[in-house]
Amino acid sequence: MNPTEWSRLEQAAKAASARAYCPYSRFAVGCALLTGDGAIASGCNVENASYGLTSCAERNAIFRAVGDGATSIAALVVYTPTPTPVTPCGACRQVIAEFGRDALVRAICDGPDTIDYTIGELLPAGFTLP
Ligand code: THU
Repeated sequence: MNPTEWSRLEQAAKAASARAYCPYSRFAVGCALLTGDGAIASGCNVENASYGLTSCAERNAIFRAVGDGATSIAALVVYTPTPTPVTPCGACRQVIAEFGRDALVRAICDGPDTIDYTIGELLPAGFTLP
């Protein structure tokens, strides 16, 4: 990943958050990822009046990418409207790992801080079928 690629993902993640459907939490999350084929996909969180049906920005971006033919994730950026970076929830970590065993994950926010992880750091000893 070079700085230009990261910058594109960061811009796409922020743009995606503006499309979040989050009337219940008012917490607009955006995600953008780079596939192994060099494509960019993005997603936002989509909530529901039946709260448990809410789908996170990360999983929406991943499912969109896979639906468009992606088979792997090289890097993913999640943007949250917070003063400090926020990392993906546990369920999303498991789904990132499914398609990106070595995926890089960057968390960005409205403040100056950015945090970089590998999915292995975020989900050590994640589930895989034996
Ligand atoms: N959310 C995400 O989109 N990604 C995460 O990693 C954690 C939480 C969303 C779900 C819900 O719409 C809102 O943030 C508050 O939990």
